[in-house]
Amino acid sequence: MNVAGTARRRIRLAMVGGGEGSFIGAAHRVAARLDDQFELVAGAFSSEPSRALASGAALGLPSDRCYGGYEQMVAREAQREGGAEVVAIVTPNHLHARVATACLAHGLDVICEKPLAVSLAEADALVQLSVKHRRLFTVTYTYAGYPAIRHARELVASGALGELRVVQVEYAQDWLATDVEQTGHKQAGWRTDPAQAGPAGALGDIGTHAFHLLGYVSGLAVEEICAEVHTFVPGRQLDDHVQAMLRLQGGARGMLWASQVACGEHNALRLRLYGSRASIRFDQEVPDTLWFAPLGEPAQCLRRGALNSQSAAAATRLPPGHPEGWYEALAQLYRDFAELWHARAEARIPPPWALTTPQLHDGRQGLAFVEAVLRSHGAGQRWVSLQ
Ligand code: NAI
Repeated sequence: MNVAGTARRRIRLAMVGGGEGSFIGAAHRVAARLDDQFELVAGAFSSEPSRALASGAALGLPSDRCYGGYEQMVAREAQREGGAEVVAIVTPNHLHARVATACLAHGLDVICEKPLAVSLAEADALVQLSVKHRRLFTVTYTYAGYPAIRHARELVASGALGELRVVQVEYAQDWLATDVEQTGHKQAGWRTDPAQAGPAGALGDIGTHAFHLLGYVSGLAVEEICAEVHTFVPGRQLDDHVQAMLRLQGGARGMLWASQVACGEHNALRLRLYGSRASIRFDQEVPDTLWFAPLGEPAQCLRRGALNSQSAAAATRLPPGHPEGWYEALAQLYRDFAELWHARAEARIPPPWALTTPQLHDGRQGLAFVEAVLRSHGAGQRWVSLQ
């Protein structure tokens, strides 16, 4: 129910990408449905028109809402009575900015995968356009949707850690430890192709997640970076490893490591923050848990029942002991978006937790990070400022 006491209707969602055989599009569809606030009404699900139409039919969409191309979909849906109101962009990276530009120009809101674009210039152009068209624009840094992460953010903001001194973030995977892109592996294929992934491999794919998480929880901007990127697998066109030293606002120091050739690691996104009074530790593979260690006291393992801050409670759906995880985290970004959307429709201020959701500026900062790392590396691992 809204403030006026009338029932909320579902927001009409369209999707670009996410056809048969793809990965994240299906997760978005689950996430959008989890809190029952969206209805998928249209899609341009693939670059191949026949596959796009077959994918839409398999999802139960009528044929006139399944499109062979996103340009046609955006133009038609924006005009039609009962057309889509928000578009989820779940294509490879090189299309994000193009599709988002079309959406904004037609007055549609956007939920876009990371990285937001393949260059900072593209990201800046999107920021300009969204200012002009005043649309909602979520960037799905999924891990910002975990209750433990929201609780960590509140703990840091409350001063419980004291002054932040050291920040460490790492994101390690092993699925690109061999030249799997040569075997026809779809997701590896485009991620290692500069024409589709952009100029960054692991850096853009998972480094941007790590960078966002660090800023989201610490509340600190990274001011300077000294970084190296490296390609371990022979013949690969993009980096599969990045390591960076960081200088942050207020004097904190840190490190970021992201690698897709770390044997034995699957989705090991880990964050540690050390303040003058306490530290926290989070491991994405155990997402219901946050460690809080005050100086001189035993470390506390905060599990979901103890993650009781307002923003964590708003991101929790089940009683403690019932595992929640990655789907719920992505669903939280949809729930945040829905709150912002309904607040706009009702001309009221949204709840504070929804406002923390990753938005266009966060996506833009991801590209600023990518370009700073590449600049630092290109200059022989010099310190560079992050614009
Ligand atoms: P994928 O290769 O599995 O899926 C991409 C989909 O886009 C396919 O269905 C493909 O046919 C479609 N596509 C390509 N060109 C298109 C066009 N012109 N029009 C319409 N559809 C088109 O890739 P995956 O792994 O799902 O990644 C997609 C995006 O999601 C990437 O930007 C990636 O960085 C991001 N991602 C984000 C994650 C997160 O945790 N937030 C996790 C995994 C991926």
